[in-house]
Amino acid sequence: MRPTGADAPALGFRDGPVLGIETSCDETSAAVVDETGIRALAIASQDAHAAFGGVVPEIAAREHIRSLDAMVRHAMREAGVGRDEIAGVGVTAGPGLVGALLVGVNWAKAYAFARDLPLLGVHHMEGHLYGTALEHPAARPPFIGLLVSGGHTLLLEARAWGRYRLLGQTRDDAAGEAFDKVARRLGLAYPGGPEIQRAASGGDAARFRLPRPMLTGRDDPGDRSYYDMSFSGLKTAVARIAAEREADGTLEEAVPDLAAGFQEAVVDVLIAKTLRAVEQTGCRRVVLGGGVARNSRLRKSLSERLGSSGELYAPSPRLATDNAAMIAAVARHRLANGERSSWSLNAEAGLAFPGLVQDPA
Ligand code: KG4
Ligand code: ZN
Repeated sequence: MRPTGADAPALGFRDGPVLGIETSCDETSAAVVDETGIRALAIASQDAHAAFGGVVPEIAAREHIRSLDAMVRHAMREAGVGRDEIAGVGVTAGPGLVGALLVGVNWAKAYAFARDLPLLGVHHMEGHLYGTALEHPAARPPFIGLLVSGGHTLLLEARAWGRYRLLGQTRDDAAGEAFDKVARRLGLAYPGGPEIQRAASGGDAARFRLPRPMLTGRDDPGDRSYYDMSFSGLKTAVARIAAEREADGTLEEAVPDLAAGFQEAVVDVLIAKTLRAVEQTGCRRVVLGGGVARNSRLRKSLSERLGSSGELYAPSPRLATDNAAMIAAVARHRLANGERSSWSLNAEAGLAFPGLVQDPA
């Protein structure tokens, strides 16, 4: 995201409906959000990737071009908002697939420029942090945020909107990525998260001993490893067992137990790290965001472990997965605070999380 630059449009923001656009990965989405919340949300999930077992960047960009206009028209119609009533435009500027991001960014720039509207480039993961508050008005800072998606795994302390302290992150695979890769290894469909969850429901999580990476119990709160996570070794452990089973023809029978064991290990690590953050900060309010927040085992166990003195805010499935309502929510807030992106706003695959600092205290 570009801060207000020399060529930033000197356009004021009058509070009103904000149009949000999201095209960072394989969901094409448009939404209208105003002070009452979500007026409309349209999402087209691209099925074309399933045959490839993962997102194909070129296909994603092409599908966004094909669907974005229709998603915007759909959202505007559902919101009952005329073009002249839109007060600003927010678009995911990163992180994500650059070709996919470019479709949304260029579309939003053209739309805002043509209508003299203020534009804001939004960080996708900050969007996931705001998404939950659209459904739970109490899910606002201060809170501990656990963002678990296909591309990122972040544990942070939100002190205020726009002021975040990074506690930990994954050192290799994102949690969702591990679900997707393990699913693929077990012969399950893409996206893997829901498939693993389904397979795990009939499985015995204790049958296979799987590691809980980065949970040694010897960690010190001052060490990075206290909050950091790693899922690559766990993924490899599952792959090794799968290979053995495949060799003797017993993989199919073992899939539910392997899925359950893997899911339990990921959930154990995520919960342990989150509870460490709760303990160290004294903040017992936790906000979940990102596609893996749909996982029912994670939601149930985390809620139980937080107990009655804590509060877990989790998004509904529609708002956990990529959507433009969360992008519009960030844009509305930042536009109202006087922020603008310039007309030179660009898509950035590795965009830095705005306001996220690594200070230990
Ligand atoms: O946030 P998201 O929609 O897209 C990214 O920003 O990456 O997250 C997608 C990820 C995928 O890896 C998918 O497998 C995972 O969320 N996911 C789940 C579940 N539903 C979706 N992971 C575990 N359990 C689920 N029920
Ligand atoms: Zn996402």
